[in-house]
Formats: sequence, structure tokens, C-alpha cells
Amino acid sequence: MEKNPVFFKCPGCSGTVMIMDPGMCKAPSADALSVSCSGNEMTMLSEQTADFAKEKHVPMVEKVEGGIKVTVGSTPHPMAEEHYIMWIGVQAGDDFMVHYLKPGDAPEAFFPCPDTDVKAFECCNVHNLWVNR
Ligand SMILES: [Fe+2]
Repeated sequence: MEKNPVFFKCPGCSGTVMIMDPGMCKAPSADALSVSCSGNEMTMLSEQTADFAKEKHVPMVEKVEGGIKVTVGSTPHPMAEEHYIMWIGVQAGDDFMVHYLKPGDAPEAFFPCPDTDVKAFECCNVHNLWVNR
């Protein structure tokens, strides 16, 4: 059974944490989870799928030699100090892989997955969490 990880962001430091298997929690729903960072209540990030701004965020998956490439945006997302993609993740069956990015990098990542049937995630430091499905 595929897990449904959830992500929280700290309003103070903007750090992100992943709850790998919220279904294990005794809380009645994932919304009842509470996570804090240095005394700040962290905010659960909702999975966005529809672009609303001129910057494009939905991760796109394509087959490449030896695996898949995930690119953020049909037009490449900015990768400046003040606005960039912090990480790209892929969930493929029982595997979850993350590639961290920094300003100046290309908004893309390679993963050694055999096919493109994956759930792709990306986290923008300004516009938060986006998924491809
Ligand atoms: Fe953004």
C-alpha cells in the first residue's frame, strides 16, 4: 500500500519536515498532526497541482537514460537566492527519494527509477509544496 507522506514548514526558519507515514499516528486524521520547531507551530503544506502564477511549479516527469528526470515548471522556475526550488522528491512504490537544490542550480533532478509512473514533489521557498498528481 502506497504511503501518503505529509510535509510541514516552520514559519520562523522555513525549514521543512516530512512525516513519512501519517497513517501510523493515532490522530483521527493527518490534519490533527502537530509539529513544532523551536516553539513555533509548523504549518502543514497542502499539495498544489494547478499553477496560478506566471512561475510554473508543477513537476514534470520524463524518461531519460537510466531513469527519470523531474523538471519544475513547463517554463523553468527561477533559482535565485530569494526565490528557488529547495528540493525535488519522487515517490515510487515503496521508495521515496529527495534531491536538494540551491540557488543557481537548474530546477531539475535525476532519479534512478525504472519508469515514469511516480508521484513527484517539489518545494518552492516562496510557493511551498507542489505535486504532479
Ligand atoms: Fe515559486
